[in-house]
Amino acid sequence: MKVSVLGAAGGIGQPLALLLKNAMPAGSELALYDVNPMVPGVAADLSHIPTPVKVTGHGADQLEAAMADSDIVIIPAGVPRKPGMSRDDLFNVNAGIVKSLVETGAKVCPNACYGIITNPVNSTVPIAAEVLKKAGVYDKRKLFGITTLDVIRSNTFVAELKGLDPTSLDIPVIGGHSGNTILPLLSQIGIEFTQEEIESLTPRIQNAGTEVVEAKAGGGSATLSMADAGARFALVLLDALNGKESVICTYVEVENQPTRFLSLPVRLGKNGVEEILPAGTLSAYEQKLFDEMLPTLEGNIAKGVEFANS
Ligand SMILES: NC(=O)c1ccc[n+]([C@@H]2O[C@H](COP(=O)([O-])OP(=O)(O)OC[C@H]3O[C@@H](n4cnc5c(N)ncnc54)[C@H](O)[C@@H]3O)[C@@H](O)[C@H]2O)c1
Repeated sequence: MKVSVLGAAGGIGQPLALLLKNAMPAGSELALYDVNPMVPGVAADLSHIPTPVKVTGHGADQLEAAMADSDIVIIPAGVPRKPGMSRDDLFNVNAGIVKSLVETGAKVCPNACYGIITNPVNSTVPIAAEVLKKAGVYDKRKLFGITTLDVIRSNTFVAELKGLDPTSLDIPVIGGHSGNTILPLLSQIGIEFTQEEIESLTPRIQNAGTEVVEAKAGGGSATLSMADAGARFALVLLDALNGKESVICTYVEVENQPTRFLSLPVRLGKNGVEEILPAGTLSAYEQKLFDEMLPTLEGNIAKGVEFANS
């Protein structure tokens, strides 16, 4: 299996590459690409770690070589938020980056699975879909917005509140990946909460990214926890492509839902998405938040589609 990471010299890319170098199956290849000229150095650095994973580094003019024949392409390339910015404020810069990277992928790795980290994920995933469609290689089973960070944050915050082991939790988070479109389904995990607890946990999970952006005071957004989340997602997907199925929440193209793209629990297997699972029963509070987010999510999706086709 070959995994390429695009934006591999960045705050997310570097620790993500480290985690993958240490956990990918023996014999697999990790190809690192960035427009930052230090990327061959990142690859050289990682290549000294004694694991049976080959690492290659590719600079600005070597995108095709980095992506060629990839089974999985993970994209954290782009600019992160600064205090006061929403994820949507990143659209103008990041939309074009994702579009051009996926255009190359359509040519050199037409069967790859894509995991998009670059924000605004609600829009960059539809952009990738439209680009792949235009190139005639779109397979909606193979395109994912990585929302795993919302799940691991939910697990952490609930475990802290209830004195539990966070590794024992796997909280479903549906919707999208920004502000009020992030909806943790706390009613579904068999833990008793007061309404007050739910109404303080839910916005904390929704705004957790902003908590990090403000604490970093202009130095960027979540990188280490995002690298952890990205590696978890990539490794689960790698295992699935190799035949070990798993269920994970991720932002994908859906059918018979109120929006064209939605994060839902998805069963991953050899072909990528094997089945999109229902969200299950929502509490009245969750249903209200779900209904309220739909116009925002729809707008984010439309903006991505329009950009890709402009
Ligand atoms: N999905 C999520 O949950 C989540 C969480 C945190 C951050 N993010 C997003 O991830 C992205 C990256 O964040 P970061 O903190 O790593 O930023 P960063 O600035 O530290 O790193 C981004 C990297 O992308 C590279 N890059 C820029 N344009 C490129 C191009 N055309 N091709 C290849 N590489 C390119 C830069 O050189 C840099 O090395 C941001 O858009 C951020 O909003 C997503």
